[in-house]
Amino acid sequence: MIPPVDSFVCVLLCLFYGVSSEELLSLNGKWRLLNSNGSVSLPAQVPGCVHSALQQQGVILDPYFRFNDASYRWIALDNWTYTTTFTVSAELRVTQQVRLVFDGVDTVASVSLNGIVVGETDNMFRRYDFSVRHLLKDGDNVLNVALLSPLLYATERRRAHSSYRVPPECPPDVQKGECHVNFIRKEQSSFSWDWGPSFPTLGLWKGVGLEAFDALRLVQVSSVPLYNLSSSQWTVRVELLVDAVQTTDGRVTLSVPELDSEQTFLTRFQPGKNKNSFTLLISTSSRVKLWWPSGHGDQPSYHLTVRGFQDRVLVLSTESKVYFRSVELVQEPLPGSPGLSFYFRINGKPIFLKGSNWIPAHSFQDRVTPAVLRNLLQSAVDVNMNALRVWGGGVYEQDLFYDICDEMGIMVWQDFMFACAMYPTEDDFIQTVREEVVQQVQRLKSHPSVIIWSGNNENEAALATDWFDIPSSQRPTYVKDYVTLYVNNIRKIVQEEDHSRPFLVSSPTNGAESEQEGWVAANPYDPHYGDTHFYSYTLDCWDWRTFPRTRFASEYGFQSWPSFSTLQPVSIPEDWSYDSNFTSHRQHHADGNQQMLLQAGLHFNLPNSTDPLKRFTDTLYITQVMQAQCVKAQTEFYRRSRSEIIEGKGQTMGALYWQLNDIWQAPSWSSIEFGGKWKMLHYFAQSFFAAVLPVGFEDDDTLLIYAVSDLSRDLKLRAVLTVYSWTDLDPVCTLRSDLQPVTGGSAVAIYKQPVAALLAGCGHCTRLTCVLTFRLEEEGGSQQGPTNHHFLCSPRDARGLQTPNITAKVQEDPTGFSVTLHSASVAPFVWLDVGDIAGCFSSNGFLMVSENRTVSFNAWRPTSVAELSASLTVTSLRDVY
Ligand SMILES: *[C@@H]1O[C@H](CO)[C@@H](O)[C@H](O)[C@H]1NC(C)=O
Ligand SMILES: *[C@@H]1O[C@H](CO)[C@@H](O)[C@H](O)[C@H]1NC(C)=O
Ligand SMILES: *[C@@H]1O[C@H](CO)[C@@H](O)[C@H](O)[C@H]1NC(C)=O
Ligand SMILES: *[C@@H]1O[C@H](CO)[C@@H](O)[C@H](O)[C@H]1NC(C)=O
Ligand SMILES: *[C@@H]1O[C@H](CO)[C@@H](O)[C@H](O)[C@H]1NC(C)=O
Ligand SMILES: *[C@@H]1O[C@H](CO)[C@@H](O)[C@H](O)[C@H]1NC(C)=O
Ligand SMILES: *[C@@H]1O[C@H](CO)[C@@H](O)[C@H](O)[C@H]1NC(C)=O
Repeated sequence: MIPPVDSFVCVLLCLFYGVSSEELLSLNGKWRLLNSNGSVSLPAQVPGCVHSALQQQGVILDPYFRFNDASYRWIALDNWTYTTTFTVSAELRVTQQVRLVFDGVDTVASVSLNGIVVGETDNMFRRYDFSVRHLLKDGDNVLNVALLSPLLYATERRRAHSSYRVPPECPPDVQKGECHVNFIRKEQSSFSWDWGPSFPTLGLWKGVGLEAFDALRLVQVSSVPLYNLSSSQWTVRVELLVDAVQTTDGRVTLSVPELDSEQTFLTRFQPGKNKNSFTLLISTSSRVKLWWPSGHGDQPSYHLTVRGFQDRVLVLSTESKVYFRSVELVQEPLPGSPGLSFYFRINGKPIFLKGSNWIPAHSFQDRVTPAVLRNLLQSAVDVNMNALRVWGGGVYEQDLFYDICDEMGIMVWQDFMFACAMYPTEDDFIQTVREEVVQQVQRLKSHPSVIIWSGNNENEAALATDWFDIPSSQRPTYVKDYVTLYVNNIRKIVQEEDHSRPFLVSSPTNGAESEQEGWVAANPYDPHYGDTHFYSYTLDCWDWRTFPRTRFASEYGFQSWPSFSTLQPVSIPEDWSYDSNFTSHRQHHADGNQQMLLQAGLHFNLPNSTDPLKRFTDTLYITQVMQAQCVKAQTEFYRRSRSEIIEGKGQTMGALYWQLNDIWQAPSWSSIEFGGKWKMLHYFAQSFFAAVLPVGFEDDDTLLIYAVSDLSRDLKLRAVLTVYSWTDLDPVCTLRSDLQPVTGGSAVAIYKQPVAALLAGCGHCTRLTCVLTFRLEEEGGSQQGPTNHHFLCSPRDARGLQTPNITAKVQEDPTGFSVTLHSASVAPFVWLDVGDIAGCFSSNGFLMVSENRTVSFNAWRPTSVAELSASLTVTSLRDVY
């Protein structure tokens, strides 16, 4: 609402027909910040937070450095007061109403103006405004926001809730976090998570300002296109949330000029805040160009203008983008299967969701700049993702996040911010949540990218599978609280506020079946219904039989370590070993570091260099290899399962791995490191999410190749297999299957052969001595999709794997930088790393089966051939042991 301008700038709303004014006075900029005993006093930027202010003023070092999360625990135990002084113009003081507006306060605060308390806050996810006209004066006005320690508040609220516990009381010790986060409406992961540090922030994390007006103030405008299938008619439902000084009769004109649609409505605004809704009929519905997810079409938008008049005076005017698309979540009986389907239909077309899960991009939201958001979201679409789930333990993202998703065609699964816990249902808690939900739905519902709301993360599963050892006699109390919060309040509000997209109570859930079972299913992970989350660190991830044949995989994944260049700035040499204190301090998932080695050890030799630093960096590499290969195997299983029902399970229509991004420099399930560097997994995603993909796997020693296609058009494809000996770059043999029809949006088996027969027909190959690549070709020989590969044995057991002695040459031409590699033998998991030079390669982590290979480097900042050459290292599997 408040323009991001530095302090004291007045903006007058355009006036065409008469006199009516609305004046905005931004109070963003430099404030003073003081702790409770006055020992710390410093300037602080608003929007911002206490940690950022302390760091900017040099009071603390980088909170992400080494063990500083533990050292800076005191910050959140203290209370902090933000103060600013401002003057107001005479014009502003004579307007009818003046509201003091906070777009976001983190979290528990008392606000006072000129010594008088004007209001309190208790919810980071709400916008607050207070009426202050009567308190403004000539000369200096003093505004104070006194923030209470979030740890103290959460503990106090827990104590006040004495009748029964609301688990988990505290995070596991390995997370080094704080207790009772479920009692405060604040980013749940800010008290620590299994991938993140504990930095319970305090601050004014969004804009602050005064809004003065004589007639009306527009608080929120939303526009939701709705399609009527039987009449083939588009309408746009526009809602104006208006703050009016007095009863105002007027006219509202809505128009979408590009679609020759305009209508005027008579309306009445009541004093105070009120919502007025209007439905604009699109007279030329057949001309509407639809918004499509990335990979399925374009994302065209139209301009919607809204103008409000009182008599002939323009009292409000706003313009926004409107995108037309419909979304359905299809849960219906499937032939040959118990259970229900679970997939999304966008504009009537079933769409397989490919993507990941989004977590907060920084512990301190003021550091999540437009550039950070744009880079992460661009990285998602660059690897063929079309969907992200905004996970329920973080924040409802800033407007720009959803604007970019709209533009890029990224579908958003939007959780409400409740995760992995039971929640209290005291009246004031419910009331603040209700306001949060209303505001967030009103803010976000105009975005076509948001395709579904989900009430919480894993709380149905936590209750159903008893994560918290709740005695069965007490279970009804918790089920009742669950239904109260998510069904009777959140779901009800969403259904009133938004008719245009589905709502699920939880994720994972059995959806319609959970509803049948009283909202908490016996087994929310049932693969016959809804979505699933699935993690297994000890089972062999190369064996697809270990994965659930689910309708929709909304979470699954494996950890890895970030690269050395990401860790280096927050560590010192004594930290650089896999068993250092630093390495275990950064690991917030119990046994995580051991699990990675265990999983890697199933198929790879573990690094054992006698040089400690090399051993450490080799270990970082092998964890990335393991993660990339594991998530590839699992994702390919889900994608090839889209058209099949086997033993009642299948028709998988979504694969969102955990997790896209990182909050700090630490081991996690992410495919992108803190700072934006792509892990090997992210490069692999580019292939395993490709629109057309060959998937190879073995079933009882028989090799099958599936052609998976997300295209709309039908193809005729054959599989082309090339077998290589580990010792030689010349193929041993090449095999071709017959051409087969592959209809758009399907997965079809197009090759099937016992491995023994395949090898018998191919020179002297054995499982141990050879590896195979395969691709899809159309009749004329043109390749569709990437080339894939299949290991016939664990690389650990491969015979003849050579040290490939790869050399690299960096070049620059008008199209950019490139690296040409030269290898003396077949090399798996070839990894190019240019340290901290931001950018990404066109391909990385690949199986090199040619003497030469050139990849391009897309630099995200200026660099040079010399700098790249000096930074470049090339590693392949044989180099690490
Ligand atoms: C004042 O607060 C700071 C920060 O919480 C604390 O380190 C210091 O000991 C306090 N000083 C006194 C005199 O209580
Ligand atoms: C913070 O404020 C609360 C409530 O006024 C008070 O109980 C607590 O002692 C204060 N904390 C500090 C460190 O002063
Ligand atoms: C959709 O259009 C049909 C036919 O014009 C009409 O009867 C029906 O009421 C419309 N539905 C809605 C929800 O507007
Ligand atoms: C590692 O942590 C342990 C336990 O906190 C401590 O005793 C030890 O001195 C630390 N080692 C180093 C090298 O810092
Ligand atoms: C490291 O491991 C490899 C493969 O297991 C083995 O051949 C080699 O001898 C080991 N080297 C050392 C120094 O232990
Ligand atoms: C790589 O270089 C080493 C040392 O010069 C050599 O022994 C080895 O044969 C080379 N590898 C290949 C595949 O040529
Ligand atoms: C690889 O590049 C080298 C050096 O440019 C060249 O001599 C060689 O012929 C190339 N090999 C192949 C198979 O193209």
